[in-house]
Amino acid sequence: MKKLLVTGASGLLGLNLALKAANLSWDVTGWSGRRALARVPFSAEQVDLANPEDIPARISMFAPDLVIHCAALADIDQAEQHPALAERLNAQAPEALAFAARKTGAQLIHISTDAVFDGTRGDYRETDTPNPLNIYAKSKLAGERAVAEANPDATIARVVFYGWSLTGSRSLAEFFYNNLSAGKPVNGFTDMFFSPLYVGHLAETLLDMLQKRLSGIYHVFAPVSLSKYEFGVRLAREFDLDANLIRPISALDSDLPTRRSLNLSMNTEKLQAALGKPLPNQTEGLRALHADFDSGLRRKLLSFHH
Ligand SMILES: NC(=O)c1ccc[n+]([C@@H]2O[C@H](COP(=O)([O-])OP(=O)(O)OC[C@H]3O[C@@H](n4cnc5c(N)ncnc54)[C@H](OP(=O)(O)O)[C@@H]3O)[C@@H](O)[C@H]2O)c1
Repeated sequence: MKKLLVTGASGLLGLNLALKAANLSWDVTGWSGRRALARVPFSAEQVDLANPEDIPARISMFAPDLVIHCAALADIDQAEQHPALAERLNAQAPEALAFAARKTGAQLIHISTDAVFDGTRGDYRETDTPNPLNIYAKSKLAGERAVAEANPDATIARVVFYGWSLTGSRSLAEFFYNNLSAGKPVNGFTDMFFSPLYVGHLAETLLDMLQKRLSGIYHVFAPVSLSKYEFGVRLAREFDLDANLIRPISALDSDLPTRRSLNLSMNTEKLQAALGKPLPNQTEGLRALHADFDSGLRRKLLSFHH
């Protein structure tokens, strides 16, 4: 059986992905960084990726057949404060991993972001020119370019997603769920648009992309975008919470510490054509988030915390 390596296995995407693949009987190993994982149904190891020069030896020792690289400095404000670390983790580490994967013959999906675009226009296709606005987005774009050059067969998957996480507070869905279920008012941006997939659907799609051996850049998003405010309202309705606790405000009137793109609606036609099926929409995503909550996924993920 082929060995799948998931980096960032303690993160929102990596953990859900490793779990999904393990449940589908893939042979999965998850590498996390500082956080150790306990009681997970896949092999788990802690491997620091902040020193890109160590990566080739780790990859040739482990010799995976398939790699999905989810590890990153993914906190936008942290990246702004630590630009050198962002460059190492988001650009140099993916480059080293892409070289190593090419050398050992492993198939690679590198995870990137919608934030490579400036959000002035929306409906972005893979062929549109990126224009990142902050350190995080610049370092992720540098990572994409380094991966494509080091390993032309690699897949670069631009994503944005929500779901249940190891800490219970990583994603936008958890932000709305936690506050609204505690009766706390929150702000929702009416002019910040995105096209998030439920992380369970994203995980399935990435595994599908591996099996189809897609290579090059793909937009892996929900087919229709919505504002962050509307997302909160729809989540509230799905969970029978009070949507009136969400104050509609403009992102321009808030004091976000780091500059962010406003209109990140994304065009997914290329991927839908390659997969031969539509990507899940927002109603399906929120329903799956709810169904996974009801079947105990949230509690299970929290229990993996060491
Ligand atoms: N969240 C989103 O909606 C979103 C949107 C666009 C793109 N993305 C991209 O999607 C990917 C996954 O994001 P996420 O939200 O799942 O991230 P996350 O929850 O912040 O997790 C980040 C992961 O990276 C690992 N990591 C960080 N520094 C490391 C190091 N020095 N060595 C080894 N591992 C390290 C972390 O491990 P420890 O915590 O154990 O140290 C953790 O497993 C990233 O590439 C991100 O840029 C995310």
